[in-house]
Amino acid sequence: MDSIHVHGGICLQGKVKVQGSKNAALPILAATLLTRGTNVIHNCPKIADVYLMLHLLDSLGCRILWDADGVKIDTGHANYCEMPVEAIRGMRSSLCLLGALLGRTGKVSMEYPGGCVIGKRPIDLHLEAFRKLGAQINERDGRIDGNAGKGLKGTLLSMPRSSVGATENAILAAVSAKGHTCIRGAAREPEVAALCDYLCRCGAKIDGIGTGELHIWGGRTLRGVEYRIPADRIVAGTYLLACMGTGGSIFLEDAPISQMDSVIRLAKGLGARCQGSREGLYLQAPERLLGDRKISTQVYPGFPTDLQSVVLAVFTKAPGCCVVEENIFEDRFRILDALALMGARIKRLTANTVAVYGPVRLKGHEVAACELRGGAALVTAGLMADGETVVKGCEYIERGYENICRDFRELGARIYSVSSEKGKRDA
Ligand code: UD1
Repeated sequence: MDSIHVHGGICLQGKVKVQGSKNAALPILAATLLTRGTNVIHNCPKIADVYLMLHLLDSLGCRILWDADGVKIDTGHANYCEMPVEAIRGMRSSLCLLGALLGRTGKVSMEYPGGCVIGKRPIDLHLEAFRKLGAQINERDGRIDGNAGKGLKGTLLSMPRSSVGATENAILAAVSAKGHTCIRGAAREPEVAALCDYLCRCGAKIDGIGTGELHIWGGRTLRGVEYRIPADRIVAGTYLLACMGTGGSIFLEDAPISQMDSVIRLAKGLGARCQGSREGLYLQAPERLLGDRKISTQVYPGFPTDLQSVVLAVFTKAPGCCVVEENIFEDRFRILDALALMGARIKRLTANTVAVYGPVRLKGHEVAACELRGGAALVTAGLMADGETVVKGCEYIERGYENICRDFRELGARIYSVSSEKGKRDA
């Protein structure tokens, strides 16, 4: 298992390019199954979850080729078959293949997906959407079997709760269904809009993109296209917040500023100066953070749950009492013990609320990531801390960050990863 070593206490300074979005890339890669011909996906992040998705597409018969332009996917030969269990279980986004395969081949059978352990993460909304579109879905012995019978039919889908994944799966199935589908209560996250944009480029007809009510006219033939994955708002937010924690000033090239309102608002509330331009986002952290802040995670455009752990680390440096309320996942305070080892003073107020008392100077320690965004938060805490921090469990971080060490080194940090197999440093 690899570990990341950070010598903290250095202000971040400089420029870094923001990678393509993981949460946009994964459903779009699954959606290529609905097209005929070759897709060229530009700016596709080179992360473990993308490699897993490509492995699954390869197992279905797609031809995959990385080159300087991005990743080329020829779906011409793809067909229904058993997919490798370990890849299905390796990430939550393998779920998108349910909708894509129902659409392409009319049937699907797969294990329950895995992914980060941050709460119960049921899939009832996904399965309910498929059933309403006319598929027969059976759950048995840890497997999901789906059959579209004589074909899916457009319908009215009312989502009782906002779910990014269920909305994406409903879209994937609905573009293949005959007739009109209306999805009410659709998730409005930019990654859902990116999936719709991609599908429209391929020839789908979708109205209401970016809103809570989508109208899809299904059954059209979709062709492979070239598509550029938008920049990752969560990676950009991680680096922005890390700079708030360490101090300094950075430029985030390509940062998707229009999707980062809530994070930029928090940074300004903590005393930062932020300036957006067509090229990216400039951030100057204040000498001292302003205190007594609060964030509540919410669906988009509210504060993203994926940045909640990173905020916990940053709040240790703010004076007074800062409050973090998690409203999306039940079990997303999994880094509290690790932060406490580093000297943070955090008190659990309720099941979904904690208070962070500061400012404290974090001290380097050996800690372990147990999920993706929590791992990025521990790296951030390490950058803020005096002395050396060792973050174990890098495989979680690699699921979503192309090379977090390289990116922070570009910003002047002393950080490198060590592979336990080779005992080698990456820099
Ligand atoms: C996606 C993102 C993840 C982000 C999350 C919320 C990807 C690959 N992952 O995850 O990074 O943290 O959105 O912005 O895009 N729920 C149900 N039933 C369902 C589905 C979801 O009750 O069938 C609940 C979940 O348990 C959770 C809430 O709905 O409490 C939101 O989950 P959802 O939006 O589905 O998250 P994901 O799509 O898994």
